[in-house]
Amino acid sequence: MDPAKLILDGNEYELPVVIGSEGEIGLDITKLRSASGAITLDPGYGGTGSCYSSITYINGEEGILRYRGYPIEQLAEKKRFVEVAYLLIYGDLPNETELDLFRHQLTHHSLIHEDMKKFFEGFPAEAHPMGVLSSMISSLSSYYPDSGNGEDIDLNIIRLLAKAKTIAAFSYKKSIGQPYVYPRNDLSYHADFLHMLYAVPAEEYVPPPAHEEALNMLLILHADHEQNCSTSTVRMVGSSQANLFASISAGVSALWGTLHGGANQKVIQMLQTILDDGADYRKYVDLAKDPNADFRLMGFGHRVYKNFDPRARILKGQADKVLGQMGVEDPLLDIARNLERIALEDDYFIERRLYPNVDFYSGIIYRAMGIPTNMFTVMFALGRLPGWIAQWKEMRDDPHGRIYRPRQIYMGETERSV
Ligand code: ACO
Repeated sequence: MDPAKLILDGNEYELPVVIGSEGEIGLDITKLRSASGAITLDPGYGGTGSCYSSITYINGEEGILRYRGYPIEQLAEKKRFVEVAYLLIYGDLPNETELDLFRHQLTHHSLIHEDMKKFFEGFPAEAHPMGVLSSMISSLSSYYPDSGNGEDIDLNIIRLLAKAKTIAAFSYKKSIGQPYVYPRNDLSYHADFLHMLYAVPAEEYVPPPAHEEALNMLLILHADHEQNCSTSTVRMVGSSQANLFASISAGVSALWGTLHGGANQKVIQMLQTILDDGADYRKYVDLAKDPNADFRLMGFGHRVYKNFDPRARILKGQADKVLGQMGVEDPLLDIARNLERIALEDDYFIERRLYPNVDFYSGIIYRAMGIPTNMFTVMFALGRLPGWIAQWKEMRDDPHGRIYRPRQIYMGETERSV
């Protein structure tokens, strides 16, 4: 394709065109500033590509999400989370030998250093588990320093994936005042997590198969989502050559926010408020439309998906099935369905192309599994780990990679004297 032409103040500049493997078009502005003195301005980066990437493809108009070329629907139906993690991080689905080794590594690195238990003791019982997770992941860098060589990095990737679920489960046990439960080597990745979450020393705990299945699917659906807020944070921090643990810890903090992963916790709190208020959905739809009310329908809207979120579509179908298998009836599910129906018929939501996102139904399933509300975003973080790691690794291995350093348009005072 011919270069784009930009005319600025009577001068013409050529901007090379870059075309992605799915036909996405980008204008390369890397030389624009040095040639013209001008920068581009895009608050919130909605129209800005920050990198080349071969990991995840999203087409927001058509509701397409693929990891390394594989449609999310197929992966969610046919694969285990550890296979998807391998796919994202190393580029291809593992063969049997590769998968056995990967599973073995994830199993045998799941213990955290005993000294780290003292950190948990220092947190107040009411500490939010996302704050604990972020701090503990950052502290892993003190135990497993990164000398910058490839072998250290590869091992730290395994350690992070293996230990994060132990840390997440310990933070929950701490919050309810129960003894920590150590990982078990005979269980799968997600069954082991459920075991560390729910087992108590007095009795044998066997994770219900329906819970294991649901968790497997939820983790896969959250595993990557290209350059969203938390992933861009991981890349931003990592671009200064900060170590893996520091970069991912920053991603956990970014995910915590209500407009990002923190929305799943807020969805359940919103549904509960509506239920407690007599289940009057229309009142809350009206409130969300009122420009003077500081209220949004949590779990609705997405920066990229403008027709539907394929993950939400899968989860909506699964919520009924999973709750049925678990024998759970949840009045919040009825409210969620009604809210969705009413909002989707409403001009306000239609005009703004606001649809349920992945967080809308995930909380209902987590609730049915008995996972406490303040752990929902931690579940999201566990699922997102392989994506963050893959994106960090891709950035690190990019020979043309540079430190992230956006510009600004200064709008403050011009020079003045004291
Ligand atoms: N409820 C009511 N109105 C909404 C909602 C909502 N959930 N989301 C967006 N709008 C409205 C805005 O008020 C705005 O209306 P206006 O044009 O009249 O001013 C318009 O839709 C566009 O909204 P923006 O905030 O500009 O959209 P943006 O792309 O910046 O934000 C976001 C996307 C943050 C997801 C937003 O839709 C939102 O706040 N949703 C609720 C929180 C949520 O569910 N977050 C999870 C996202 S998925 C994820 O991170 C995994």
